[in-house]
Amino acid sequence: MLPLPIRIKHMSNSLSQVDLIREAFHYQSRFEGSTMVFKIDFPVTEDPGFPFLVKDLALLAQTGFRVVIVPGAKEWIDSVLREYDIVSAYAELDNSPSHSSTRITTAEAMPFVEMAAFHVAARFMTGLAGSRVDAVIGNFVRGRGLGVVNGRDMENTGTVDKILVDSLNKALSQGMVPILPCIGYSPAGKPYNVPSDEIALEVSAALGAVKLFIVSLNGGLRAASYTFPKNLETSTRLRSSEGSPLETGDDGRIIRLSPQEAEAVLAANGAAKDRPLQELSLALRASRAGVERVHIIDGREEGAILRELFSNLGSGTMLYADEYESIRALRSRDILNILRLMDPLMRQGILVRRTAEQILEKKADFVVFEIDEQVHACGALHEWGEAQAEIAAVATDPLYADMGLGRRIVGCLIDRAKKKGLRRVFVLTTHTQDWFEFLGFREVPVESLPVKRQKVYDHSRRSKVFALDLI
Ligand SMILES: CC(C)(COP(=O)(O)OP(=O)(O)OC[C@H]1O[C@@H](n2cnc3c(N)ncnc32)[C@H](O)[C@@H]1OP(=O)(O)O)[C@@H](O)C(=O)NCCC(=O)NCCS
Repeated sequence: MLPLPIRIKHMSNSLSQVDLIREAFHYQSRFEGSTMVFKIDFPVTEDPGFPFLVKDLALLAQTGFRVVIVPGAKEWIDSVLREYDIVSAYAELDNSPSHSSTRITTAEAMPFVEMAAFHVAARFMTGLAGSRVDAVIGNFVRGRGLGVVNGRDMENTGTVDKILVDSLNKALSQGMVPILPCIGYSPAGKPYNVPSDEIALEVSAALGAVKLFIVSLNGGLRAASYTFPKNLETSTRLRSSEGSPLETGDDGRIIRLSPQEAEAVLAANGAAKDRPLQELSLALRASRAGVERVHIIDGREEGAILRELFSNLGSGTMLYADEYESIRALRSRDILNILRLMDPLMRQGILVRRTAEQILEKKADFVVFEIDEQVHACGALHEWGEAQAEIAAVATDPLYADMGLGRRIVGCLIDRAKKKGLRRVFVLTTHTQDWFEFLGFREVPVESLPVKRQKVYDHSRRSKVFALDLI
């Protein structure tokens, strides 16, 4: 299990722990009062870690999040039906949100399906009761039969007719956690077996959920398992790894992708090829239905939900439809944050000392790397005449080291210099020459600096000069 390779590396540092707590508070205040839907596959409920997962859900409900649970029950229904010697047939339906095959639930099977679905829902109920959180298993889904599809009678297999939003909101406003088993009822009270993927999608859309969690045993997409279309944009990604132009973690999981990227991955691999792709397909549908972020996580990893929710490194694969990360110009209110990034480096003599006033004076030269409205890296481009500019004050939050933030800051500053028509960028460094060489810079003599810069060159620092020619 390698869910947090980057953090663990820095965990011994108490400042890092404080940073984690800050990050958690940031996300807590950002999402408090918003609705989150958790689609949890049945095998997760069989895992020894399941009680901890339910505890985390309870914690979220107690902290002010509106939590809705959609338990998947497929494997449990299979085993109950097997026990009663009932064989299920499946159909491939065009409009299945996850492109998975759909069980044809016969009238004979329906009572067993209902029993199994409620049994699984009750596991959540029991776990939440143990954490003193009120939960309600309700008839929040109005269903209707699918009828005859492609010549096959789908019998008691249904689809979502309507999500009963008012009833759900009533329960949520009382602090309860609604649990929606995979059953929908017709207005006449007839039960239908409705795929839980579809319920999760529809309830997320109907409640305007900001997040949908798809909790399974897969934990998102592993880059090595899929092919990627060549046209996927790589330059804007944090880090690319072998075979995948998308941002991946050290464990090979794709950390996050946009709906356009998800679409391209599905088109290149076939949406129904395997369960992780089916989950991606569901995530994409949810994203198109207005859910800002869909997280696909491994329910066996302890704390996976909290990590995904309260840190912007996460532990699974996230599909995001909103603005997530960007490099932007420095704003006055960022100055304290970047001083915090630079302070330890200035004290070690790695960066030249700068005060808030000096930064403010050169504010237009600076850019910051923001993830979810929090600054995690910075850098500046100072012009010195003679068509040359200095790249300076490049610093990355140690919690976000080795994720390509520094590279992207430098790349952005180089782009800026090119747009200004400059011929060369240079950097003065005492500790980081290898990194700049790795980025293509080459050592040059101090005498090649613009005259103005030579005049203020601090000979006591004995910085080396590295330059990159732009034309
Ligand atoms: C140098 C610095 C900006 C790199 O930031 P970052 O966001 O971690 O860097 P990236 O993710 O873009 O690049 C990471 C790669 O560079 C390598 N790297 C990082 N710091 C390095 C250094 N000082 N020397 C050589 N290589 C270095 C990493 O090993 C990693 O290699 P990999 O991709 O093969 O795993 C960051 O370490 C930092 O803030 N350093 C202190 C301030 C500083 O030296 N600034 C430059 C002077 S202006």
